[in-house]
Amino acid sequence: MRLRSWPQAHASLPGMTDSQQFRADGHAAIDWAADYLEGVRDLPVMSTVAPGDIRAQLPAAPPEQAEPFADVLADLDRVLLPGFTHWNHPRFFAYFSITGSQPGILAELLTATLNVNGMLWRTSPAVTELEQLTLSWMCQLLGFPETWHGHIEDSASTSTLAALCAARSALPDRRVVVASEHAHSSIDRACRILGLELRHTPVDDAFRMRVDGLDLSDACAVVAAVGTTSTTSVDPVPQIADAAAASGAWLHIDAAYSGSARVCRKPCAPAQKLQRELVRQCEGATELHPRREIGPSAGGRQDVVGAGVLVGFGLAREQRV
Ligand SMILES: Cc1ncc(COP(=O)(O)O)c(C=O)c1O
Repeated sequence: MRLRSWPQAHASLPGMTDSQQFRADGHAAIDWAADYLEGVRDLPVMSTVAPGDIRAQLPAAPPEQAEPFADVLADLDRVLLPGFTHWNHPRFFAYFSITGSQPGILAELLTATLNVNGMLWRTSPAVTELEQLTLSWMCQLLGFPETWHGHIEDSASTSTLAALCAARSALPDRRVVVASEHAHSSIDRACRILGLELRHTPVDDAFRMRVDGLDLSDACAVVAAVGTTSTTSVDPVPQIADAAAASGAWLHIDAAYSGSARVCRKPCAPAQKLQRELVRQCEGATELHPRREIGPSAGGRQDVVGAGVLVGFGLAREQRV
């Protein structure tokens, strides 16, 4: 795809201030993004390059001199663009669609501009308050009780790691995590990081976790998937929640793939049943914990045991901010 003649359109002019240059380059970048989104359907969905093709066209050593942004954009078109698999291509049907929408792109631009650090309320009050409000909106959209609160992680993998870390701290004598054989690899990774043993359970003919014979007696947590990556199968969460409550294990729901379907207003019996059951299981049990309480460095709350529930929604990166 030939996008534009960037060097002519946006070359540096002598005497431009940094700010003027930034504006010119920024307009060029937005034009590039808009052209890309308009034209992506004309590109091949999958990259056609051979291994090493992209690297061979780039300097082996770090450049000594900065390049004009127009040259960078030209290289983006010429060198890099052929090396992308276009996840937001209208004919991309692998895995899941991405959320590289225009509002999301602009949000990333503004977030990068503000260079936000939100580790404490004081370091950027707006960040903490916006995060809490966004989570409150999520609670409302998902039909969860108003008393629940949570925090936004940078990825579904981190949310699983944090949840299992909390479960390990809450039940230190239990070192097993149970998940179906179709659970996402991030659960294996979290268990390895945390020194926990992952026990896979078999699935039924619809690729859902089988609950007959589900033994959680030595488990600190069980992970149910609302949408497995391989087939989007939904584990029987209500039954798994019952088993977790009976054994005192934590329930972590990996809803990264299709938990957001719950937001859909259209009546959907399975989703409504799932939400009702989730709320029932969690009533009076616990709350979703703020980051400082479950962060890996601080360890989990020792006073929270049994039927703890953390729901990991893999929000799009630009929406996670
Ligand atoms: C079911 C499920 N869980 C977890 C993940 C990990 O998500 P992330 O890349 O945000 O860590 C994915 C991503 O593919 C997923 O599909």
